[in-house]
Amino acid sequence: PSEPQYEFLKVSTPRPGVGLIELHRPKALNALFTPLILELNAALRAFDKSTDIGCTVLTGSYKAFAAGADIKEMAPKTFAEAYGSDFIESWSGLPNLIKKPCISAVNGHALGGGCELAMMADVLYCSTAANFGQPEIKLGIIPGAGGSQRLTRAIGKARAMELILTGKNFSGQDAYDWGLAARVFATPEECLTGALDTAETIASYSRIAVKAAKEVVNKSQDLGIREGVEFERRVFHGLFGSEDQKIGMKAFAEKKKAEWVHR
Ligand code: CAA
Repeated sequence: PSEPQYEFLKVSTPRPGVGLIELHRPKALNALFTPLILELNAALRAFDKSTDIGCTVLTGSYKAFAAGADIKEMAPKTFAEAYGSDFIESWSGLPNLIKKPCISAVNGHALGGGCELAMMADVLYCSTAANFGQPEIKLGIIPGAGGSQRLTRAIGKARAMELILTGKNFSGQDAYDWGLAARVFATPEECLTGALDTAETIASYSRIAVKAAKEVVNKSQDLGIREGVEFERRVFHGLFGSEDQKIGMKAFAEKKKAEWVHR
């Protein structure tokens, strides 16, 4: 099937069950502006709906994952325009937009909105050469796509406060050492391959179980431990109504590979 054509993205299916979205606005280091974000949302939704895809990888170039929101697009905005259009709301939705997991593979600059976009993914991988940061303070603004919340939850208030107040960058190794990145790789090539490998593994499992797993882990960010554990148990119970639960457990007993029907 022919993939839809995008101006600011390269979209492909490099592995069985894996969708790859590469941000592609090289002249502006993948600076995020509305036309790109609308394409990104459309591409993510298309993969999420596709029965062929079980997991998506989001990446940029080796030079830049994304160098932030487009400063030239933002510069003339008034308060009324920003507030009236709920500026950035349309591109803060990634965590809730799609039910299947998304892995970000971060190489090069991931600054401002780029760092925020990377953090919206379900799993973040990076290379040692990645350059993260929330430099908005230097522009007379603050993070606007969840950076102050997600960075703080990921690495703790002490470090996040220092980084957001100073606008200092941090490396891929820091991101891993501080718990923002699940894995760090020596090179961008290894980072992308690692992300595709993991996505392929995830895509080989029951889609319904994978969606449920993503949903319950994300709930831990919003709920207290007691409600969270209760929510998990309800979703766990629900999976006994899926065909894949019967298939997975029967395959185990028969020492066979499960052939999921994703229902
Ligand atoms: N917006 C618009 N254009 C950008 C951009 C951005 N965020 N980042 C880079 N570009 C453009 C540059 O203007 C330049 O374009 P021209 O060739 O037309 O001049 C091109 O991309 C290449 O950039 P540089 O020449 O600056 O490349 P470099 O290698 O010397 O530096 C960099 C790279 C350190 C990433 C530098 O480009 C930079 O500091 N960019 C801005 C980073 C930033 O402040 N991001 C946060 C934005 S605010 C935000 O994101 C708000 C939010 O929370 C949502």
